[in-house]
Order: sequence, then structure tokens, then C-alpha cells
Amino acid sequence: MKIIIDTKENCAKLAAQEYKKLLNEKPDCILGLATGSTPEDLYKELIAMNNAGEISFKQVKSYNLDEYVGLTGEHPQSYRFFMDDKLFNHVDIDKNNTHVPNGIDIDDEKAAQYDKEIEAAGGIDLQLLGVGNNGHIAFNEPGTALDSVTHVVKLTQSTLEANKRFFDSIDDVPTHAVCMGIKTIMNARKIILMAYGKNKAAAMAKAINGKIDLNVPASILQLHPDCTIYMDQDAASEL
Ligand code: F6R
Repeated sequence: MKIIIDTKENCAKLAAQEYKKLLNEKPDCILGLATGSTPEDLYKELIAMNNAGEISFKQVKSYNLDEYVGLTGEHPQSYRFFMDDKLFNHVDIDKNNTHVPNGIDIDDEKAAQYDKEIEAAGGIDLQLLGVGNNGHIAFNEPGTALDSVTHVVKLTQSTLEANKRFFDSIDDVPTHAVCMGIKTIMNARKIILMAYGKNKAAAMAKAINGKIDLNVPASILQLHPDCTIYMDQDAASEL
């Protein structure tokens, strides 16, 4: 694991340079993308670089980590809506090449098809991750199997609490999500995880300094051959 500790602003700028490098080397690369508060600054950097003509997404295919079960792409809290709003609507990507797991009428068997689609596209070149307060990556909550592929998950109370800020009340937060599995994520050729804030500090300390433990899903990234972690001082405060 490569660890970079800097301000939130600089982390976004440095990570954006990794995207620039990849997009220039491989214009038809496959990106694994994330939602949540964490990637927002990075997406702003990518939009600015795209608008300045420094990078292009014209040939890119993207696969998002997860989606809430029961929300259509029109729902303002769906992850499809988030991606359109925060990135896709502002860059030259072909929307037909953007993929977010389908959260409607979904079961594990249908969800696992997402892995097949990723594989058929050539596999993910660069997977972006945030981390949950409980160490989750995507919505792979503590205890998720190492060999899991895209599947339906029941969100933990801690994740429901963390995500209620986007909804009117905790009762409105969907209880389930469909998300890439640990195996899907680990198959990516390169991984960038970003973590900001004190509420991520305990999880990041365990993920980086602890033993590899299925109860801290982010710790499994220690096994990945090319994983870079960008974190601010607060997220690094318990290392
Ligand atoms: C989002 C995702 C989640 C978030 C994590 C952190 O697609 O898969 O794992 O990355 O819950 O969320 P934020 O960034 O809102 O703190």
C-alpha cells in the first residue's frame, strides 16, 4: 500500500493526476467509480481537466461500485443520479458507456452478471474507493467474504446512520444495496482509496496497521499489488 497524507484539496489534485496519466496512456480505459462525499472534490478536478481539454472520457467505460435497492436512477439519492449530477453530465463521457448497478428487481444471481459485464469489457483499470466509518468498501460490510462478487447486501445500522444525512430521516434510507464484491474490487488492476475526516480515523488505522481481517473490509486492500491511499491528517490521526 502506498500512503499519501495531505490536505483534502491536495489529495483530490494528486489523485486527479493519476487519472490524467491513465487517460492519456489508455484513452479507452475502464474506470471503477464511487459515490459519497469523498470523491466529490476529485470529480470537480476531473471536470476541470476535461473542460480544459487536458483529458477526455470519450472512449472510457465506467462501472460504479454500488446502488441502493429500490431506487431508480431518477431518485435524487440514487447513485445513478449522483454520478450524472457530479460527473457524467459535465464531461465528454458517452452515458451509454457508464454503468451503475441496477437496484430494481434485483437478486444475487442477477447482480453477479455485473462481474461478467466488467470482465467482458476487459476488467477495471482503476477502481476508486471511499471507506465507511466501519471499514466497509463499497457496501461490503464487516464480515463479507473475500471471494464475493456483485451481490445484494443488507446495510448495517452504522451505515444507515452515516447515510441518513442524505435523506429526510433514517427511515427513508434504503435498507439494502447492490454492490461489487470484495473479489470484484480486488480484481481491479489499480486501486485508489480516499479517506477524509476524524470519523474515518479508527477504520483507517485498522485497515493500514491492523492484520488483514474480514471484519475490517478495507484491510483486505493490504493484499492488493497496486493500491494507493490518499488521506487527510484527520483520517490519518490514529495511524
Ligand atoms: C460509495 C461507497 C461507500 C462510500 C463510503 C464513504 O459508492 O461505496 O463505500 O465510499 O460509505 O462514504 P462518504 O464518502 O460519503 O464518507
